[in-house]
Amino acid sequence: MNPVKVGIAGLGTVGSGTVNVLQRNAQEIARRVGRPIEIAHIGARRDNPDCDISGVRLSRDIFAVATDPDVDILVELIGGTDTARELVLTAIRNGKHIVTANKALIAEHGNEIFHAAHENGVDVAFEAAVAGGIPILKSLGEGLAANHINWVAGIINGTGNYILTEMEQGGRAFVDVLKEAQELGYAEADPTFDVEGVDAAHKLTIIASIAFGIPLQFSKVYMEGIGRITIEDVKSAAQFGYRIKHLGIARDTGNGIELRVHPTLIPIETMLSAVNGVMNAVMIDGDAVGPTMYYGAGAGAEPTASAVVADIIEMGRALTVDHEERVPYLGFHADQMSDERILTIDDVSCGFYLRLHVQDKPGVLADITRILSDNRISIEAMVQKETEEGLVPIVMMTHKVLEGDMNAALAKIAALDTVDKDIMRIRVETLDA
Ligand code: HSE
Repeated sequence: MNPVKVGIAGLGTVGSGTVNVLQRNAQEIARRVGRPIEIAHIGARRDNPDCDISGVRLSRDIFAVATDPDVDILVELIGGTDTARELVLTAIRNGKHIVTANKALIAEHGNEIFHAAHENGVDVAFEAAVAGGIPILKSLGEGLAANHINWVAGIINGTGNYILTEMEQGGRAFVDVLKEAQELGYAEADPTFDVEGVDAAHKLTIIASIAFGIPLQFSKVYMEGIGRITIEDVKSAAQFGYRIKHLGIARDTGNGIELRVHPTLIPIETMLSAVNGVMNAVMIDGDAVGPTMYYGAGAGAEPTASAVVADIIEMGRALTVDHEERVPYLGFHADQMSDERILTIDDVSCGFYLRLHVQDKPGVLADITRILSDNRISIEAMVQKETEEGLVPIVMMTHKVLEGDMNAALAKIAALDTVDKDIMRIRVETLDA
């Protein structure tokens, strides 16, 4: 049988993992595909001692792989957006199918790439772009295809989860833990992408499109990182029975779609709250299946290669099938996409955790609670912490409130002379617990 010929662009962590998995499991993979997978060409600026590519054609110019007539599938593992976009579009124009692990590329340029792929009759697969080794896109687009998806909520950035876990369990400082995540190879090239929620927003954009059949709309994701979370917040959340996790949430409210990534208090008894360290986990709630959960390594060489190689296998099987007859790029047919509106964060309703530092004198609490009630905000629980020098910390949990009302109330509270302007608020989600 003729082999499926694969060209790999990029030989970093995921590239070397992909080479190793393809080589180590070659026989089993050939049995699954019905024909062998051959690495025909690798494009990489540098060699990688973590894999053996002897005997494989190697080019320093990655575009040589995208135009190589011998390559059936281009595997894009260079990361970034500008060159990766150019490379993928070049490969598509040259009739190659595409496998990529690049979440930024798909979230920001996916609509353009799918259009070009459709015009050229080729396929694009990107399972590895979201939650590494967890087959979450296939679960959404195929395994759960019978369902109307109600919501998806996930821990989809391992670096952020590692930092929050270490802060909670080890009482360690933020910077110290981030450095370790970088050394372990989990953090993005620019770790602010992890810390500020950009990485999670890229992944949520992709998840939401496959969940709801909407175009990729990265610019509409509300984004907040973990940079302002303190050990005090972590401890206070625990006292109320919650843990702080950085979640990506996509929800179909029936009146628009919520797309948001931010730190979130979730009840300690939920399964997501037990997901620690660099692990990822995603909950999907479908109308037929109910709540489901998927857990695993969200980054790293071989976990990510597991998803890359699965996409290569799927394409290898379907190489002779017309692309219109395969699973659509986003799980829904391109002419059947919904234009359901994406809600702004002001339209989102949820409970809040608030931490304020106030002067310890009569009437201060009364002023705060009056402002909250004037804005239709009801308090669920409140604790005044031990007196520090000067200001007293107050932490409270509210019932569900519209974000716009909370913003209005917090602006008025921050304007009080008796309250420190640096007020912390973290959204609360019960995940139907
Ligand atoms: N920086 C990402 C993370 C890597 O920490 O989850 C996988 O996308």
